[in-house]
Amino acid sequence: MLRSALLAAARSATVRRVVEANPLTGSVVARYVPGTTTRDAVEATRVLAARGMRTTLDHLGEDTREPEQAAATVTAYRAVLGSLADAGLADRAEVSVKLSAVGQFLPKDGEKIALENAQLICEAAAAAGTTVTLDMEDHTTTDSTLGILRDLRVDFPSTGAVLQAYLRRTEQDCRDLASAGSRVRLCKGAYAEPESVAFQGRGEVDRSYVRCLRILLQGEGYPMVATHDPRMVRIAADLASRARRDPAAWEYQMLYGIRPLEQERLAAEGHRLRVYVAYGDEWYGYFMRRLAERPANLAFFARSLLGRG
Ligand code: FDA
Repeated sequence: MLRSALLAAARSATVRRVVEANPLTGSVVARYVPGTTTRDAVEATRVLAARGMRTTLDHLGEDTREPEQAAATVTAYRAVLGSLADAGLADRAEVSVKLSAVGQFLPKDGEKIALENAQLICEAAAAAGTTVTLDMEDHTTTDSTLGILRDLRVDFPSTGAVLQAYLRRTEQDCRDLASAGSRVRLCKGAYAEPESVAFQGRGEVDRSYVRCLRILLQGEGYPMVATHDPRMVRIAADLASRARRDPAAWEYQMLYGIRPLEQERLAAEGHRLRVYVAYGDEWYGYFMRRLAERPANLAFFARSLLGRG
């Protein structure tokens, strides 16, 4: 109930105005978003790299309605990729891109524009010496995103995709993408989805996650295990060891600010650990999805707004 309400609020312009206008919101958002600028994103990469971790950088923004805004997003990714290369950090970071931020929903030629813009970002990533992973948004975009992934991989074969275990289709998508050279980030899924397309219960989603993990870890690609769930973390390690995976042939991924001690523990144990670092001004939708993932976060946020947090 609460999760659905928060996810609905993530799309509400009215709630957005109220949340953004509150001067105390910033300190809570800072838990998940280290800053707004390219420099902040590169600095977060530097700090995490010093602790043995990698990053994937997400320039915040989604649901772009103007071609100029989509072009500005491309410029922002080029800037951060150039800065990573200049700082000698391109081997520690990749970028995550939401196709809706680069034009997928534009009323005229949206998919074509998103593909062209994503190609420009892939080119900049290749020039910097790194790569791109396409985030996955709600289920109405899955086919379009996987179609654009196929096109991008013709010239940029290391481009990765996110698959969401809560979708009923995902086991099959994992089979399709568990091939050599393919990079797949498996997460549970963060959007409000109908029962017709998505498992609703926690247990069902977790079981699907394990089935998908098995396919990916036994497959030929490069699995990116994106979860903070201690059970899934343990199961992934177990399945990877049974599949005799080299530690450099898969990785864990977690979001900036969530279970940071666990992130350090896994890295210190010799696992590859990549932190998803979202940065920029357009933090609202990202932040609301983080609140929805854990009801305790909402209480924490509410206390902060009341000045008691
Ligand atoms: P689960 O929700 O069961 O949480 C397990 C535990 O982790 C909780 O008990 C709590 O301790 C901690 N935790 C989880 N979320 C928290 C939060 N917000 N605040 C504080 N603690 C929290 N989704 C999507 O739909 N499309 C995408 O492209 C991506 N991309 C992505 C990249 C990466 C690197 C990660 C880690 C996640 C995503 N996600 C995503 C989000 C994902 O779908 C999911 O919503 C969250 O990761 C939470 O699910 P968990 O697997 O962590 O398990």
